[in-house]
Amino acid sequence: AALAAQDASSLPRAEADTGRRPYRRAVVMTMGALHAGHLALVEHARSLADLVVVTIFVNPLQFGPTEDLARYPRDLEGDLALLSGPGLLRPQDVVFAPTVDVVYPDGDPVVRVTAGRIGEVLEGESRPGHLDGVLTVVLKLLHLTRPDVAVFGQKDAQQVAAVRRLVRDLDVPVDVAVHATVREDDGLARSSRNAYLSPEERERALALSAALDAGRRVADAGRGPDAVVAAARAVLDERLSDQDAVDYVALVDPATFEPAGAGTSQAVLLLAARVGATRLIDNAPLTLH
Ligand code: PAJ
Repeated sequence: AALAAQDASSLPRAEADTGRRPYRRAVVMTMGALHAGHLALVEHARSLADLVVVTIFVNPLQFGPTEDLARYPRDLEGDLALLSGPGLLRPQDVVFAPTVDVVYPDGDPVVRVTAGRIGEVLEGESRPGHLDGVLTVVLKLLHLTRPDVAVFGQKDAQQVAAVRRLVRDLDVPVDVAVHATVREDDGLARSSRNAYLSPEERERALALSAALDAGRRVADAGRGPDAVVAAARAVLDERLSDQDAVDYVALVDPATFEPAGAGTSQAVLLLAARVGATRLIDNAPLTLH
């Protein structure tokens, strides 16, 4: 007991992947309008912890001036009904759905978290300040809910990278668990924005998951980053129409979000495209050989 630990990693710590429930409390943060993707995160959180807190809060700080904050779907009753489904919340679990003045009692916060370079590339170019707003509310919600582990979705890969960096850079005492992207049967990644797609747009939106499949096949065949990106882009160019627009196709290091280079082995292939008026993102982790 008199030993002075010099390396904090030697302090006792639970691990997320022991196959049993190592944590007392898990948090799943959401903005509501829940769908099967969110519910899978809740199920995973439940397998990790004795008590799950689901937060539902549409965070004004992460919406740009031209984005859909006012139109963002809000349906607390519907969300609570979904969360009471089988295998989800138990009697001890909690839904925390604060109003804006509970989270920001003094108006916009003066002290904020910045995501740095991860917040400036890719999603950050289309949505300046977005990840700063995300990290600020994530840190606040961690303090308000005090979890041992926080569960995020791979669907928002850049958000995952930024949150991991937040935890590391500011020594936030929480573990981060990531759940794979949940998809419709035909491959489309689940998103609240899918509801905005017309039937024709819904069909064209399948270009995204098809492009990821094509990129993965090229990576599996042993080709390099440029060939992977080109294969994904070719599928988007072929299947999207002139009413749509590709925002980016990128292959990056999942931790730094810098472009994958010759030495990269684990990478993530990222896509963003506007289908009609709806902006969609998707990604696939892959191994370069
Ligand atoms: P929201 O978009 O509601 O997403 C909440 C969580 O669900 C995120 O971790 C997101 O990655 C995950 N998620 C969404 N769709 C998914 C899918 N198809 N498969 C797997 N996981 C999916 O992300 C946010 O809210 C906010 O930025 C938040 C972290 C709550 C901060 O305000």
